[in-house]
Amino acid sequence: MAITTQQLIQWKQQGRSIVALTAWDYAIAQLLDAAGVDLILVGDSMAVVLGYETTLPITLEEMLFHAKSVRRGVKRALIVVDLPFLTYQESFQQAMHSAGLILKETGAQAVKLEGGYPAMVETIARLVQAGIPVMGHVGLTPQSVHQIGLRQQGKTQEAAERILNEAIALEQAGVFSIVLEHIPADLANLVTQKLSVPTIGIGAGPHCDGQILVTSDVLGLSEKHPPFVKVYTNLRETITKAVQDYTVEVRERKFP
Ligand code: KIV
Ligand code: NA
Repeated sequence: MAITTQQLIQWKQQGRSIVALTAWDYAIAQLLDAAGVDLILVGDSMAVVLGYETTLPITLEEMLFHAKSVRRGVKRALIVVDLPFLTYQESFQQAMHSAGLILKETGAQAVKLEGGYPAMVETIARLVQAGIPVMGHVGLTPQSVHQIGLRQQGKTQEAAERILNEAIALEQAGVFSIVLEHIPADLANLVTQKLSVPTIGIGAGPHCDGQILVTSDVLGLSEKHPPFVKVYTNLRETITKAVQDYTVEVRERKFP
């Protein structure tokens, strides 16, 4: 049975940890879904597998194309799609237009927007009122890389309080879940205790209601990855070895 946003909130109440990963195409999405991942994010971090340096250049058209491909591979997981940089910050109307295209054209169930500052909270409240499920994202927000870099956020008392207040404001705006990225574990714990919607952590310690990582990092496909990632297998090595073996066998006329 397909997983719903309400299901995730129930799992928080029951203390069942939510398993999330990113996907960028049919093949990867199908494998993750069949392996039992609960939430699949078509993250703008797919910039990595598309060869971009940051998430900023990804367009709404690219997200739509990849989200449709992911949708075709998924039977069970909840699919959330990132709104890319400057496709929602300009105005509520712009956010509504972008989120609407994602839901109508891809069949994904929800969108994710970065930031918990007042104007973004207002935008998100209006999306939710219009019937669009929204996931929040606070702490390290990579679309602001040129302002804040990729360092851990919320290290000072003041910064920690701001992140907590942003998360509370997002919950009041109606998000069904919030990503907490690269913040201290104590702060993530506090946010998780204060909210009734599930927190999904990435580099935010063990106390969140669920965990997400970037799949290309987990599989060892990325050239580099953040310090908090656990790499579960080395696909770069596996692929290189397979391609080298094939190359030798074709050159030496051993295959076919
Ligand atoms: O794009 C992405 O992969 C994300 C996750 C890191 C939460 O936003
Ligand atoms: Na993202």
